[in-house]
Amino acid sequence: MGIRRVAADDAPRIHAILVATGVFTPAEVECADELVAEAIHQPDKGDYLVHVLEHDGVVVGYVCYGATPLTDGTYDLYWIAVDPACHGHGHGQRLIAFVESELRSSGGRLLLIETSGKDSYGPTQSFYLRCGYRELARIPAFYRPGDDKIVYGKYLD
Ligand SMILES: CC(C)(COP(=O)(O)OP(=O)(O)OC[C@H]1O[C@@H](n2cnc3c(N)ncnc32)[C@H](O)[C@@H]1OP(=O)(O)O)[C@@H](O)C(=O)NCCC(=O)NCCS
Repeated sequence: MGIRRVAADDAPRIHAILVATGVFTPAEVECADELVAEAIHQPDKGDYLVHVLEHDGVVVGYVCYGATPLTDGTYDLYWIAVDPACHGHGHGQRLIAFVESELRSSGGRLLLIETSGKDSYGPTQSFYLRCGYRELARIPAFYRPGDDKIVYGKYLD
């Protein structure tokens, strides 16, 4: 079990995990794929940092995060996904803890996570609360009527 930087041949596996979760629309999967592609092919830009978690040599989850432009020490966690076949084994928590540890050692101060308020995201919301995040803001009907944006956050100091 280990967490490492994304490699070029991880992209199809990450795509498969995103689809398998069943919570992302095709447009959301496409957007997530684009960020992974940028992390792989333009790593020097550094806008999107992508790491994968391997278990028995197989990628079972990934996380994508990056510095929020024009802030001092604020970061966004853009995507996190774990293969549904492996949910509930602590992989998600390991990925979040990894990001927090990386940020703490590089001056990160605040990690924000935006997610949908839809019922289908209930398990995800529980997951963030369980990881010590709290709801810092909510914008009603942000994504579409009846679909709020929730901003979770954790101050890292
Ligand atoms: C959210 C997600 C990454 C969590 O990954 P995971 O590996 O299943 O989570 P973990 O096993 O690390 O769980 C960590 C904690 O959250 C809790 N948790 C995880 N899934 C949960 C669920 N469905 N309902 C309630 N609590 C849950 C666990 O009980 C655990 O707490 P514990 O330590 O007290 O047992 C995973 O469910 C996922 O990929 N979901 C679909 C994609 C998604 O919604 N991504 C976020 C939007 S970008």
